[in-house]
Amino acid sequence: MAQLLQRVVVLGAGTMGSRLAAHCANHGLNVHLLDQTTELAASGLQAAAKSRPAAFFLPRLAEAIRTGDFASGNKAIAEADWVVEAIVENLDAKRALLARVAPQLRADALLTTNTSGLPVAAVGAQLPDKVKRRWLGTHFFNPPRYMRLVEMIPTPTTDAEAVAWLRRAIELRLGKGVVIARDTPNFIANRIGVFALMNTLRLMQEFELGIEDIDALTGLLLGWPKSATFRTLDMIGLDTLAQVVQNSYANLPKDEHRELFVVPEFVKAMLQRGWLGEKSGQGFYRKQGDQIDALDLKTMTYHPRRKVRLPFDTLAAAVKQSEFVRRGLEELFAYCQARLGEISDDPEAIDQAMEWGYNWQHGPFAMESVVETGKGPARPLGVSVRANPGCSLLDLGDGVGCLEFHSKMNVLGADTVAMMQTTLADSGLPFDAFVITNGGEQFSVGADLAYLLALIQNEEWDEVEEAVRQFQAMNLALKRSPRPVVVAPFGLTLGGGCEMMLHAARVVAHAELYAGMVEIGAGLIPAGGGTTQMALRMDPKTALETIAMAKVSTSAAEARELRLLRRGDEVIANRAFVLQAAKDAARQLADAGYEVPPEASVRAPGPSVEATLKLGVFMMREAEQITKHEQKIGNHLVGVLCAHGAPEGMMVPEAKLREWEREAFLSLCGETNTQERIAYLLRNGKPLRN
Ligand code: NAI
Repeated sequence: MAQLLQRVVVLGAGTMGSRLAAHCANHGLNVHLLDQTTELAASGLQAAAKSRPAAFFLPRLAEAIRTGDFASGNKAIAEADWVVEAIVENLDAKRALLARVAPQLRADALLTTNTSGLPVAAVGAQLPDKVKRRWLGTHFFNPPRYMRLVEMIPTPTTDAEAVAWLRRAIELRLGKGVVIARDTPNFIANRIGVFALMNTLRLMQEFELGIEDIDALTGLLLGWPKSATFRTLDMIGLDTLAQVVQNSYANLPKDEHRELFVVPEFVKAMLQRGWLGEKSGQGFYRKQGDQIDALDLKTMTYHPRRKVRLPFDTLAAAVKQSEFVRRGLEELFAYCQARLGEISDDPEAIDQAMEWGYNWQHGPFAMESVVETGKGPARPLGVSVRANPGCSLLDLGDGVGCLEFHSKMNVLGADTVAMMQTTLADSGLPFDAFVITNGGEQFSVGADLAYLLALIQNEEWDEVEEAVRQFQAMNLALKRSPRPVVVAPFGLTLGGGCEMMLHAARVVAHAELYAGMVEIGAGLIPAGGGTTQMALRMDPKTALETIAMAKVSTSAAEARELRLLRRGDEVIANRAFVLQAAKDAARQLADAGYEVPPEASVRAPGPSVEATLKLGVFMMREAEQITKHEQKIGNHLVGVLCAHGAPEGMMVPEAKLREWEREAFLSLCGETNTQERIAYLLRNGKPLRN
């Protein structure tokens, strides 16, 4: 086997093949994408390039993928470390193609199928014995960039060494969470997922509940995706549902709940009418202008979607609905228990499959323990040293401390600022270096705007100024800490969270990094030192554009292009390995004799650049691309970035820029338009453009 996975051939450029190819390209692999004709391969690649959410980290990565037809791909196949088949879900078609491919393979190459339902051993039955040893299933979930799960399905003839090698490559290089599954129908996640779904539909009828009730009861309430049952089905498509259900019935003759796997009458009625869900414009829900209608399954007519309140309005409703949830969960837990030894021996693997493949907050076994004990599984990052409601200091071992946020959405409030400052100032702590990260979904959505707005509304201007000062002092302490601080961001890293990242000795980021300074949406400028750091990193025009347009990276790769990440910063494919990598980096910096960077200065671009940038802002206002208030914010930004008219070439200390940042911020806080923006953002979760 090759030491390093480098060359991949993807067979089939449909929905899965093209996006899987994209994901391999995201992580720097050499990728060939083949289909029946070169045109099909090229159009599949194009579809992936246009898909939303984006399949590629950066649009230009699509150019690195080479396309071709199966016949002309022999050379690529002969050079590949891994060939993955993702053509139509048809046994004969897959076998025919694999028979053609097998003789071309390098002796140590791996061959896998992305089938979601066919028995892997049956698909590969006709392969030569030596190929069978390196043949297995790799079931990616759609969309492969964003869904963490890959089920790997070895057959009885697969070499353990081959499985281990590919597992490591898929985890490390492609950043996925691998679960080993048995070669049983629908493997793990879809087996449990289809049961949970079909049982929900049965209980809905038994309890005579409407689709809005079911969606209120089977979504966030259970830690399941917001799209719950019926919005998910509309996205998947009812034709696909019918196919999966029929396959389950056909292939699971011994399943004790086989009678569930029949297409319900109301689904048949919808299929007859062509109501397939989003792809046909209507399904369980229908959007007409701004109005969303829901389907009454008895009358097959639509009505405006009812808002379902939790907890329910009447006692009778509450009893019925809680009974529905209780039965649904109990039956789910029993079904999963009965699957142990059949689909997997390991409850943890089943939990991971549901968490990573279906975005459940907890898998079924962990959920059962939540129901019984009221507690979810504890997954601490380290040993707690001290804590307050927003932030903890943990001991990661090996002389590395960890500052972990744990407020809602990891908003950075006064308690977090205080914990960071006391920790970084406390030379008595037994740590040589620190990591800032957390185990949440998002790194941080930024500073606590609700607190800021309350101060503004009470006209506590001294307090506002003090809060900004403290935020700056925290980031400065981070930057100037003699014990190196590594920031390890992932997911949303916005506003103050992004500013913190800009002050790190080094950043170790997850590949899925959505970082940016979005303060303009709140009518503000970054004033935790973020504007100053941007002035140090790039020319004032680029900094202005990045901040004023609230650019947020759509990947760590893009964050690099925006220079929110620097050359020495690291990007890690797998979220599960980010903490370890950050700890290693922190340790390594300390061991290498880390030196605090000297106080920096910004070279003033001079009054003429400042005038040009202000003219640009003015022109945007004239063209009505920005509002009057945005023009004002833009001018504040230009002022700070250009060191307020300092002569060209003059070296202005960063402390001076921070002071201007603070002044601009305070002045904007006094503006009604800014206050309205903050209030609107807090209420609606999206910016107001006044
Ligand atoms: P698709 O229909 O989008 O693409 C299938 C591709 O197969 C097309 O590009 C087509 O040109 C090619 N093809 C059709 N007939 C062929 C033949 N006789 N010989 C060679 N190639 C042929 O299908 P999709 O959705 O990408 O599925 C591909 C595989 O991935 C299937 O095995 C499916 O079960 C599996 N899968 C699909 C998921 C999904 O959400 N779409 C999720 C996980 C697995």
